[in-house]
Amino acid sequence: MADRLFDDAYLAALYDLWYPRPLRDDYDFYLPRIMAAGSVLDAGCGTGTLLADARARGHAGRLVGLDPAPGMLACARRHADIEWVLGDLASARWEGEFDLIVMTGHAFQAMVEDADLAAAMAAVRRALAPDGRFAFETRNPAVRAWERWRPENASTIAGPGGEAVTITTRVTAPFDGRTVSFTHSFTGDHPALPQVSGSTLRFLDEAGLEALLSAAGLTIVERYGDFDGGPPSAQSPEIVVIAGVA
Ligand SMILES: C[S@@+](CC[C@H](N)C(=O)[O-])C[C@H]1O[C@@H](n2cnc3c(N)ncnc32)[C@H](O)[C@@H]1O
Repeated sequence: MADRLFDDAYLAALYDLWYPRPLRDDYDFYLPRIMAAGSVLDAGCGTGTLLADARARGHAGRLVGLDPAPGMLACARRHADIEWVLGDLASARWEGEFDLIVMTGHAFQAMVEDADLAAAMAAVRRALAPDGRFAFETRNPAVRAWERWRPENASTIAGPGGEAVTITTRVTAPFDGRTVSFTHSFTGDHPALPQVSGSTLRFLDEAGLEALLSAAGLTIVERYGDFDGGPPSAQSPEIVVIAGVA
Protein backbone atom coordinates (compact mmCIF):
# COMPACT_ATOMS: atom_id res chain seq x y z
CA MET A 1 0.00 0.00 0.00
CA ALA A 2 1.30 3.47 -0.91
CA ASP A 3 2.24 5.91 1.86
CA ARG A 4 -0.57 8.33 2.70
CA LEU A 5 1.80 11.12 1.64
CA PHE A 6 1.64 9.82 -1.94
CA ASP A 7 -1.90 8.44 -1.92
CA ASP A 8 -3.85 11.39 -0.53
CA ALA A 9 -4.78 14.03 -3.11
CA TYR A 10 -4.03 17.04 -0.88
CA LEU A 11 -0.70 15.70 0.42
CA ALA A 12 0.37 14.71 -3.11
CA ALA A 13 -0.40 18.26 -4.24
CA LEU A 14 2.03 19.51 -1.55
CA TYR A 15 4.92 17.41 -2.89
CA ASP A 16 6.24 19.77 -5.59
CA LEU A 17 5.80 22.78 -3.29
CA TRP A 18 7.88 20.98 -0.66
CA TYR A 19 10.54 19.92 -3.20
CA PRO A 20 10.43 22.71 -5.83
CA ARG A 21 12.41 22.40 -9.08
CA PRO A 22 15.28 24.74 -8.01
CA LEU A 23 16.11 22.30 -5.17
CA ARG A 24 16.12 19.27 -7.50
CA ASP A 25 19.80 18.83 -8.33
CA ASP A 26 18.92 15.16 -8.97
CA TYR A 27 16.81 16.30 -11.94
CA ASP A 28 19.80 18.20 -13.32
CA PHE A 29 21.76 14.92 -13.17
CA TYR A 30 19.12 12.72 -14.82
CA LEU A 31 17.73 15.13 -17.45
CA PRO A 32 20.65 15.09 -19.93
CA ARG A 33 20.52 11.29 -19.87
CA ILE A 34 16.77 11.34 -20.46
CA MET A 35 17.15 13.80 -23.34
CA ALA A 36 19.73 11.47 -24.95
CA ALA A 37 17.49 8.36 -24.71
CA GLY A 38 14.78 7.54 -27.26
CA SER A 39 12.42 5.77 -24.84
CA VAL A 40 12.33 6.37 -21.09
CA LEU A 41 10.50 4.82 -18.16
CA ASP A 42 10.35 6.86 -14.93
CA ALA A 43 9.63 4.24 -12.24
CA GLY A 44 8.09 5.86 -9.16
CA CYS A 45 7.44 8.99 -11.23
CA GLY A 46 5.42 10.67 -8.47
CA THR A 47 3.85 13.89 -9.73
CA GLY A 48 5.58 13.44 -13.10
CA THR A 49 7.62 16.64 -13.12
CA LEU A 50 10.82 15.01 -14.40
CA LEU A 51 9.29 13.64 -17.59
CA ALA A 52 7.19 16.80 -18.01
CA ASP A 53 10.44 18.80 -17.88
CA ALA A 54 11.98 16.50 -20.53
CA ARG A 55 8.97 16.93 -22.81
CA ALA A 56 9.03 20.71 -22.32
CA ARG A 57 12.72 20.68 -23.34
CA GLY A 58 11.78 18.96 -26.60
CA HIS A 59 12.09 15.24 -25.91
CA ALA A 60 10.23 13.75 -28.89
CA GLY A 61 10.40 10.05 -27.98
CA ARG A 62 8.39 7.71 -25.76
CA LEU A 63 8.05 8.86 -22.15
CA VAL A 64 6.28 6.59 -19.64
CA GLY A 65 5.74 7.29 -15.95
CA LEU A 66 4.84 4.47 -13.53
CA ASP A 67 3.65 4.93 -9.94
CA PRO A 68 1.46 2.92 -7.55
CA ALA A 69 0.07 6.00 -5.72
CA PRO A 70 -3.20 7.41 -7.12
CA GLY A 71 -2.66 10.83 -5.53
CA MET A 72 0.73 11.33 -7.16
CA LEU A 73 -0.38 9.92 -10.50
CA ALA A 74 -3.43 12.24 -10.55
CA CYS A 75 -0.97 15.19 -10.47
CA ALA A 76 1.13 13.58 -13.22
CA ARG A 77 -1.88 13.02 -15.49
CA ARG A 78 -2.16 16.80 -15.95
CA HIS A 79 0.61 16.33 -18.52
CA ALA A 80 -1.36 14.72 -21.33
CA ASP A 81 1.61 14.25 -23.69
CA ILE A 82 3.15 11.48 -21.54
CA GLU A 83 1.97 7.87 -20.87
CA TRP A 84 1.09 7.42 -17.18
CA VAL A 85 0.63 3.96 -15.69
CA LEU A 86 -0.69 3.10 -12.21
CA GLY A 87 1.34 0.24 -10.74
CA ASP A 88 4.49 -0.76 -8.90
CA LEU A 89 7.79 -1.66 -10.51
CA ALA A 90 7.72 -5.33 -9.46
CA SER A 91 4.48 -5.82 -11.44
CA ALA A 92 5.74 -4.13 -14.62
CA ARG A 93 5.67 -6.40 -17.68
CA TRP A 94 7.38 -4.34 -20.42
CA GLU A 95 9.84 -6.29 -22.56
CA GLY A 96 12.98 -4.78 -24.11
CA GLU A 97 11.27 -1.42 -24.68
CA PHE A 98 13.27 1.22 -22.82
CA ASP A 99 16.66 2.78 -23.54
CA LEU A 100 16.62 4.28 -20.05
CA ILE A 101 14.78 3.53 -16.83
CA VAL A 102 15.17 6.12 -14.06
CA MET A 103 14.10 5.93 -10.45
CA THR A 104 14.54 9.31 -8.71
CA GLY A 105 13.68 11.08 -5.46
CA HIS A 106 14.86 7.96 -3.55
CA ALA A 107 11.82 6.04 -4.85
CA PHE A 108 14.15 3.00 -4.94
CA GLN A 109 14.23 3.05 -1.13
CA ALA A 110 10.44 2.64 -0.93
CA MET A 111 10.96 -1.00 -1.99
CA VAL A 112 11.61 -2.57 1.40
CA GLU A 113 11.27 -6.34 1.18
CA ASP A 114 13.93 -8.52 -0.50
CA ALA A 115 11.30 -10.28 -2.63
CA ASP A 116 9.86 -6.95 -3.87
CA LEU A 117 13.33 -5.61 -4.68
CA ALA A 118 14.26 -8.81 -6.56
CA ALA A 119 11.00 -8.78 -8.53
CA ALA A 120 11.47 -5.06 -9.33
CA MET A 121 15.03 -5.60 -10.59
CA ALA A 122 13.84 -8.53 -12.71
CA ALA A 123 11.17 -6.21 -14.18
CA VAL A 124 13.85 -3.60 -14.95
CA ARG A 125 16.03 -6.20 -16.64
CA ARG A 126 13.06 -7.37 -18.74
CA ALA A 127 11.97 -3.85 -19.69
CA LEU A 128 15.42 -2.63 -20.79
CA ALA A 129 16.50 -2.66 -24.44
CA PRO A 130 19.77 -4.63 -24.96
CA ASP A 131 21.97 -1.52 -24.51
CA GLY A 132 19.59 0.11 -22.05
CA ARG A 133 20.53 1.73 -18.76
CA PHE A 134 18.91 1.82 -15.31
CA ALA A 135 19.79 5.01 -13.38
CA PHE A 136 18.81 5.54 -9.76
CA GLU A 137 20.08 6.62 -6.38
CA THR A 138 19.78 5.49 -2.79
CA ARG A 139 20.96 7.38 0.30
CA ASN A 140 24.35 6.22 1.57
CA PRO A 141 23.54 4.49 4.88
CA ALA A 142 27.00 5.42 6.22
CA VAL A 143 26.03 9.12 6.45
CA ARG A 144 22.89 8.36 8.53
CA ALA A 145 20.58 10.98 6.98
CA TRP A 146 17.76 9.88 9.30
CA GLU A 147 19.56 11.49 12.24
CA ARG A 148 18.43 14.86 10.81
CA TRP A 149 14.80 13.72 10.49
CA ARG A 150 13.82 15.37 13.78
CA PRO A 151 10.91 17.56 14.92
CA GLU A 152 13.25 20.54 15.50
CA ASN A 153 14.01 20.49 11.76
CA ALA A 154 10.32 20.94 10.83
CA SER A 155 9.67 23.08 7.78
CA THR A 156 6.78 25.34 6.84
CA ILE A 157 5.78 25.72 3.23
CA ALA A 158 2.98 27.48 1.35
CA GLY A 159 0.28 24.97 0.32
CA PRO A 160 -1.64 25.00 -2.99
CA GLY A 161 -3.95 27.81 -1.78
CA GLY A 162 -1.14 29.80 -0.14
CA GLU A 163 -1.96 28.36 3.33
CA ALA A 164 0.97 27.70 5.69
CA VAL A 165 1.60 23.96 6.13
CA THR A 166 4.08 22.72 8.70
CA ILE A 167 5.72 19.35 8.06
CA THR A 168 7.30 17.62 11.05
CA THR A 169 9.30 14.40 10.72
CA ARG A 170 9.82 11.89 13.54
CA VAL A 171 11.75 8.63 13.35
CA THR A 172 9.58 5.88 14.84
CA ALA A 173 11.94 2.92 14.32
CA PRO A 174 15.64 3.77 14.00
CA PHE A 175 18.02 2.11 11.57
CA ASP A 176 18.27 -1.61 12.31
CA GLY A 177 20.87 -2.33 9.64
CA ARG A 178 18.12 -2.55 7.03
CA THR A 179 15.31 0.01 7.33
CA VAL A 180 14.25 3.27 9.01
CA SER A 181 10.59 4.04 9.78
CA PHE A 182 9.30 7.56 10.35
CA THR A 183 6.23 9.75 10.19
CA HIS A 184 5.52 13.07 8.52
CA SER A 185 2.90 15.17 10.34
CA PHE A 186 1.17 17.86 8.31
CA THR A 187 -0.55 20.68 10.20
CA GLY A 188 -2.07 23.95 9.06
CA ASP A 189 -5.27 25.86 8.41
CA HIS A 190 -6.86 23.70 5.69
CA PRO A 191 -9.83 21.27 5.80
CA ALA A 192 -7.55 18.39 4.68
CA LEU A 193 -5.30 18.90 7.75
CA PRO A 194 -4.00 17.63 10.12
CA GLN A 195 -2.70 14.38 8.64
CA VAL A 196 0.05 11.91 9.51
CA SER A 197 1.79 9.72 6.94
CA GLY A 198 3.99 6.77 7.92
CA SER A 199 6.88 5.52 5.78
CA THR A 200 9.57 2.86 5.87
CA LEU A 201 12.66 3.12 3.68
CA ARG A 202 15.27 0.47 2.90
CA PHE A 203 18.94 1.40 3.07
CA LEU A 204 21.29 -0.76 1.00
CA ASP A 205 25.05 -0.27 0.85
CA GLU A 206 27.12 -0.67 -2.33
CA ALA A 207 27.82 -4.36 -1.73
CA GLY A 208 24.10 -5.03 -1.18
CA LEU A 209 23.23 -3.11 -4.34
CA GLU A 210 25.78 -4.99 -6.43
CA ALA A 211 24.46 -8.35 -5.23
CA LEU A 212 20.85 -7.32 -5.91
CA LEU A 213 21.60 -6.05 -9.42
CA SER A 214 23.84 -8.95 -10.32
CA ALA A 215 21.18 -11.51 -9.26
CA ALA A 216 18.85 -9.81 -11.77
CA GLY A 217 21.39 -9.90 -14.62
CA LEU A 218 22.36 -6.23 -14.28
CA THR A 219 25.82 -4.76 -13.82
CA ILE A 220 26.97 -1.35 -12.54
CA VAL A 221 28.61 0.70 -15.32
CA GLU A 222 28.88 4.09 -13.58
CA ARG A 223 28.70 5.09 -9.93
CA TYR A 224 28.74 8.48 -8.19
CA GLY A 225 28.52 9.83 -4.65
CA ASP A 226 26.38 12.88 -5.42
CA PHE A 227 24.46 14.57 -8.22
CA ASP A 228 27.47 16.68 -9.24
CA GLY A 229 29.09 13.46 -10.44
CA GLY A 230 31.58 13.25 -7.54
CA PRO A 231 33.11 9.85 -6.75
CA PRO A 232 31.44 7.63 -4.14
CA SER A 233 33.07 7.67 -0.69
CA ALA A 234 32.16 6.80 2.90
CA GLN A 235 31.01 10.43 3.37
CA SER A 236 29.14 10.98 0.12
CA PRO A 237 25.42 11.49 0.63
CA GLU A 238 24.17 9.30 -2.20
CA ILE A 239 24.99 6.09 -3.98
CA VAL A 240 24.07 6.99 -7.57
CA VAL A 241 24.18 4.02 -9.91
CA ILE A 242 23.90 3.58 -13.64
CA ALA A 243 23.49 -0.09 -14.48
CA GLY A 244 23.27 -2.00 -17.75
CA VAL A 245 22.43 -5.51 -18.83
CA ALA A 246 25.21 -7.86 -17.71
C1 LIG B 1 9.66 10.41 -2.86
S1 LIG B 1 8.61 10.04 -4.21
C2 LIG B 1 9.63 10.42 -5.60
C3 LIG B 1 8.82 10.84 -6.80
C4 LIG B 1 9.64 11.26 -8.01
N1 LIG B 1 10.40 10.17 -8.57
C5 LIG B 1 10.56 12.41 -7.69
O1 LIG B 1 11.76 12.31 -7.95
O2 LIG B 1 10.06 13.43 -7.20
C6 LIG B 1 8.63 8.27 -4.22
C7 LIG B 1 7.62 7.68 -5.21
O3 LIG B 1 7.86 6.28 -5.35
C8 LIG B 1 6.62 5.64 -5.50
N2 LIG B 1 6.77 4.22 -5.19
C9 LIG B 1 6.72 3.63 -3.97
N3 LIG B 1 6.86 2.30 -4.09
C10 LIG B 1 7.04 2.04 -5.42
C11 LIG B 1 7.24 0.85 -6.17
N4 LIG B 1 7.30 -0.34 -5.58
N5 LIG B 1 7.35 0.96 -7.52
C12 LIG B 1 7.31 2.17 -8.12
N6 LIG B 1 7.12 3.34 -7.44
C13 LIG B 1 6.99 3.27 -6.11
C14 LIG B 1 5.71 6.41 -4.54
O4 LIG B 1 4.33 6.20 -4.82
C15 LIG B 1 6.17 7.83 -4.77
O5 LIG B 1 5.41 8.50 -5.76
